[in-house]
Amino acid sequence: MGAEGQSTSNGPQPTANGRQDVPIITIDGPSGSGKGTIARIVASKLGWHMLDSGALYRLVALAGADRGLAPDDEAGHAQIAKALDVVFDAEPDGEERIWLEGVEVSARIRTEEAGAAASRVAAMPSVREGLLARQRAFAQPPGLVADGRDMGTIVFPHARLKIFLTASPEERARRRYKQLKDKGLSANLAALSLEIAERDRRDASRAVAPLKPADDAIVVDSTSMSIDAVVARVLELAAARFPVNR
Ligand code: C5P
Repeated sequence: MGAEGQSTSNGPQPTANGRQDVPIITIDGPSGSGKGTIARIVASKLGWHMLDSGALYRLVALAGADRGLAPDDEAGHAQIAKALDVVFDAEPDGEERIWLEGVEVSARIRTEEAGAAASRVAAMPSVREGLLARQRAFAQPPGLVADGRDMGTIVFPHARLKIFLTASPEERARRRYKQLKDKGLSANLAALSLEIAERDRRDASRAVAPLKPADDAIVVDSTSMSIDAVVARVLELAAARFPVNR
C-alpha cells in the first residue's frame, strides 16, 4: 500500500478537497478475481500509489481477535477501525510487510480464516465508516489504484476509471488455492470453493456497501485471460482516460 518502499502509519495525508483531482483507478470484484495482483502491477507500471482496502478489514478483524473482542462486537471493532495502528511497507523485491501495533502480521492476515473474519467485520456499518477517511487519504499525486469491493461505489465514486474484475467461481477458487500454496500456507480446493461462495454471498448481500459494479464500471471477466492480458487491458483503458500518462 502506498508508493513502493513507502512506510507510513496513517497513509498519505488527506487534503481539503478530498483530492478529487488526483487520477484514480478503482478495481473492485469478488474474492480471487485477481484484483490485488492486477492492482499492484498496474500501480507499479504507472508509478502510482496503491490502496489494498481488504487488508484494512483483515487488520481490524485480527486486532479485534487479538484483543479478545466478541466477533459481533460492532462498537469495539469500530473503535479499532478508527484508530488502527498499522504500518505498510515493502521489501525491495516488492514483498509486502504489514505491522499491526508494532508486530509483523504480513502472513497472518493472508489466511482464509482472516479473510472470513474480515468479511464479518466488513458487514458492520460503523467499521466501514471508521475506515473511510483513512482510505480516501490514499488519493495522492501522481495517482491511486484502489483495490476492494466498494472503491468505485462508495469510497471513490468520482474515480475516472472503474474496473469490476470478475472470474468464474471455479477459476477464483483455483487461483486462491495456488496463491495460498505459493505462500507455503495450507489449502484445500473443495473447502476453498465453499469458503469463497460463502464470502461472495455475505459480501453481495450485506446492507452496507454490498459488492456490486458501479453503474459506470467496466466489467472485465478474467476467467480465460492471463495476468498480462488483464494488465494490458487496464493500462489501455487508463491511457484513454488519463491521456497525460501516455
Ligand atoms: O480483498 P480481501 O480478500 O483482502 O478482502 C477481505 C474481505 O474484506 C472481503 O471478503 C470483504 O468482505 C471485505 N472488504 C470490503 N470492502 C473492501 C475490501 C474488502 O468489504 N473495500
